[in-house]
Amino acid sequence: MSLNYSFSGKRILITGGAQGIGRQLVQRFHDDGAIVFTIDLADWDGTRKTIESFGALDHVVNNAGVVIPQAFMDVTKEMANLHFDVNVLACFNVIQTAAKGMIEQGTGGTIVNISSICSKRAVPQTSMLVDTPMARIEDPVLQANIQKLISRCPIKRTIDTNEIVDLVMFVLSPLASMITGETIVIDGGANAGSL
Ligand SMILES: NC(=O)c1ccc[n+]([C@@H]2O[C@H](COP(=O)([O-])OP(=O)(O)OC[C@H]3O[C@@H](n4cnc5c(N)ncnc54)[C@H](O)[C@@H]3O)[C@@H](O)[C@H]2O)c1
Repeated sequence: MSLNYSFSGKRILITGGAQGIGRQLVQRFHDDGAIVFTIDLADWDGTRKTIESFGALDHVVNNAGVVIPQAFMDVTKEMANLHFDVNVLACFNVIQTAAKGMIEQGTGGTIVNISSICSKRAVPQTSMLVDTPMARIEDPVLQANIQKLISRCPIKRTIDTNEIVDLVMFVLSPLASMITGETIVIDGGANAGSL
């Protein structure tokens, strides 16, 4: 099979499409001829209704996320709730609703969830490697950690949003049809470099 797979006509839900990685995902899939949907995840029932109104979906990318840098000992209940609501529960809600539709339509589908290398290792106040607004949050500890992380990477630069989109396009395509339930790390070697 050629590497030139096209998403033309495919119906794709991308959460958090307003900026950063999500914005680039929306742009690239749109440029490729896909029909792209994005949603606000603020409300559980509203999210379900909106996804159901989109009709049949071929692909979902759970990209929306929030990061408010805080030291563990300073995390408040409100902050913990905000992170869990968007980064965990909304993701669960989107997958469940979209998967239900995919099962009913009987044509299958693919779902990619975007997470962080913070899910694999402890990083003070969290870390960012992809150059997006999230990585430009003005917090001195966070910025120092980003520089420290990059300095330990074998590839010493931030990741371009297009490099994330390339991976998402690959795993959503039939080229990766036997890759399922996997976690694929794209971090310029950050994890390997810190061993
Ligand atoms: N930038 C990095 O280095 C990095 C590192 C690790 C993980 N990530 C993950 O990649 C994903 C995208 O991050 P980014 O760097 O583009 O961040 P970003 O802050 O630039 O963009 C996040 C997007 O999520 C959206 N969002 C937040 N809350 C939402 C809600 N309730 N409903 C709908 N949309 C909402 C925002 O509007 C925004 O469009 C996130 O899940 C993030 O955790 C990024």
